[in-house]
Amino acid sequence: MTRVVDTAGLARWRESVTGSVALVPTMGALHDGHRRLIARAHEIADAVAMSIFVNPLQFGPGEDFERYPRDLDADLEICRADGVDVVFAPDQSEMYPREPEVTVSAGRMGTVFEGAARPGHFDGVLTVVAKLFQRVRPDVAVFGQKDAQQLALVERLVTDLDLGVRIDSVPIVRDADGLALSSRNRYLSARERETALALPRAIEAARSASGAQAAQDAARATLADAERQHPEFSLDYATLVDRATFTECPPDFRGDAVLVLAARVGATRLIDNASLHFVGQSLL
Ligand code: PAF
Repeated sequence: MTRVVDTAGLARWRESVTGSVALVPTMGALHDGHRRLIARAHEIADAVAMSIFVNPLQFGPGEDFERYPRDLDADLEICRADGVDVVFAPDQSEMYPREPEVTVSAGRMGTVFEGAARPGHFDGVLTVVAKLFQRVRPDVAVFGQKDAQQLALVERLVTDLDLGVRIDSVPIVRDADGLALSSRNRYLSARERETALALPRAIEAARSASGAQAAQDAARATLADAERQHPEFSLDYATLVDRATFTECPPDFRGDAVLVLAARVGATRLIDNASLHFVGQSLL
């Protein structure tokens, strides 16, 4: 049975669990992508905790903190249906009883790509993730691969700060038309959604190219076409990066890369990515 708990209730629940605990950290507005995270959490741990908290620290001035979708009742329905054991949905004063003086710095990796577009975003993400880990004390935490840079930074958080939490991840879940699921998709009009499909098309183009340089060029060409055809589409970046460091791949790169994409469609900023592995000039 799903229990909704405050910090004290969470601590009591944690004490009572004898097996392993998986945490699924979320900001709510749950969709099928989150449900995959829950399913994965059930596979790898005895008990599943979910946090639902729209974290003000990771939103910049003028971003969508105020209008970020919030529907706790609908989220709890999903948690109950999916057998989440405990839901921790603190309000702001419970999570941040006072303005934090000390926060986590995401370092260089936190200042590129999404971090360049959203200064301070990853410091805010890592700070709240560290706080959630402290409160839930999970054995493992499950994140979506859709936020590839966030995932890479959370992996660094736990290794660099010796947090003792294993990080697991789940591949991007896409709608039938190819658009990656995101709580922000609900901001899109039907026309904008159609335009946004340039992102998965760019990934397909990259997958059919051979070699790192060709893959990035193919993605950029697809997105440049979208910009020409749709004035509401504006590309932020389309770059192939080394998966571990988020530095740009040289043209002859070999190994694990991520093609990271971000674009604005109307007023909505969307991100997408694809993991690509390069061996010589061929792509696996
Ligand atoms: O990915 C998210 O939903 C958020 O960034 C997270 C990890 C829950 C931290 O607020």
